[in-house]
Amino acid sequence: MNFDEKAREWDNNPARRERACAVAEAMRRQVPLRPTMTALEYGCGTGLLSFELRHELGRIVLADNSTGMLEVLQEKITAAQAKNLFPIRLDLLVDPLPAQRFDLIYSLMTLHHILDTQRILSLFHRLLLPGGYLCIADLDKEDGSFHQEPFEGHLGFERQELAELATAVGFEVLGFETVYRMVKLVDGCQRHYPIFLMTARKREIFA
Ligand SMILES: C[S@@+](CC[C@H](N)C(=O)[O-])C[C@H]1O[C@@H](n2cnc3c(N)ncnc32)[C@H](O)[C@@H]1O
Repeated sequence: MNFDEKAREWDNNPARRERACAVAEAMRRQVPLRPTMTALEYGCGTGLLSFELRHELGRIVLADNSTGMLEVLQEKITAAQAKNLFPIRLDLLVDPLPAQRFDLIYSLMTLHHILDTQRILSLFHRLLLPGGYLCIADLDKEDGSFHQEPFEGHLGFERQELAELATAVGFEVLGFETVYRMVKLVDGCQRHYPIFLMTARKREIFA
């Protein structure tokens, strides 16, 4: 998918803004957010989710591999004078691992674009401080109708399978919650696509 081309219009879709609000609300319930916490949002796009959370967290690094998305994000940061948001171009699957470690990593609707789920979860694990939190919001398993254009990623996730992968790389999975339902017209029929939030914690000692 070409996110560079979609970036300018991204925030005009009210469902994207609503789902970011819904995920932020669920994260407040599941994670003890603190202004002392350092955070990484991975696959941030235009930063909708981090803009919701920015007053409750400390320094937030917003990572994406789309320069178009990052340009729009930088304009929003400048306009809002959001001093704790730091965008970086980063693809963890090809770039060196950043040196910084985080108290919290979160990601909204990005995991299904990354083919090697175990690898990205394991990289998130390495980037977290011991006891750090991971929040993944993404699609439940769907029949391939969600994207409505050629798409080569995951058709959502089975929650149990994702939990097993997260556990295998060293997380304690704290739970899943359905946080939002995307509604789309597919062949003239209204279809609902639930989005879950998985919350997990990096185990202090992982043998
Ligand atoms: C569906 S969009 C979601 C954007 C944002 N999280 C939101 O909910 O509005 C997926 C985002 O993940 C980014 N992305 C996809 N693959 C990536 C990768 N390997 N590394 C970093 N970002 C990636 C895309 O550029 C895009 O901005």
